[in-house]
Amino acid sequence: MPVEKLRWIGGSHFEGDEFGALNDFLAAAPEATPFGAEIGVLTSLNDFASRPARGFGDGEEFSIGSRRMKWLYTPHVPHGWDCGILFDLSTRTLLCGDLFTQPGANMPPVTESEVLTASEGMREMMDYYAHATNTSATLERMADLDPSMLACQHGSAYRGNSAALLRELAATIERGNGKLSTRPRAVTAQVDG
Ligand SMILES: [Fe+2]
Ligand SMILES: [Fe+2]
Repeated sequence: MPVEKLRWIGGSHFEGDEFGALNDFLAAAPEATPFGAEIGVLTSLNDFASRPARGFGDGEEFSIGSRRMKWLYTPHVPHGWDCGILFDLSTRTLLCGDLFTQPGANMPPVTESEVLTASEGMREMMDYYAHATNTSATLERMADLDPSMLACQHGSAYRGNSAALLRELAATIERGNGKLSTRPRAVTAQVDG
């Protein structure tokens, strides 16, 4: 699609890799509206964006041409109180942002092999989860959508039993929460290094 035809430009939560190039895109796409979670618009997006942003509420749906999208507010999962994800109701694709982040390069765009082992390897190096009390319930909401694909922002998209993988992620986090160290590993590494 030509960039100037874009009508919606948004992200999961306000970080550089989500919104860093937002104003460049808005300049190239004059009809586009920036969007994010309502709280993200209040706290960051309207200060940063060159045009007023649209904040979506939990469960709100909107159309992008032939596709219908649903916004789910997923605060702190995996991080950011403004965090949300988009579900493409037409294809049942979950645009799941930082969930299932896999390190490395040269991966296939889509894989049918599970991505949880690789993403847990990433979390072992750098725990980027907020470990909020709502994490399992939020992941269960996503599993209930029964996505056909998990479109990860970092790494391969997964095509397969996405609901099972989301539930396995929740169980893995629950197990890990019982033995969290008092200091995050990334901070320990910096101090000790
Ligand atoms: Fe992030
Ligand atoms: Fe990210």
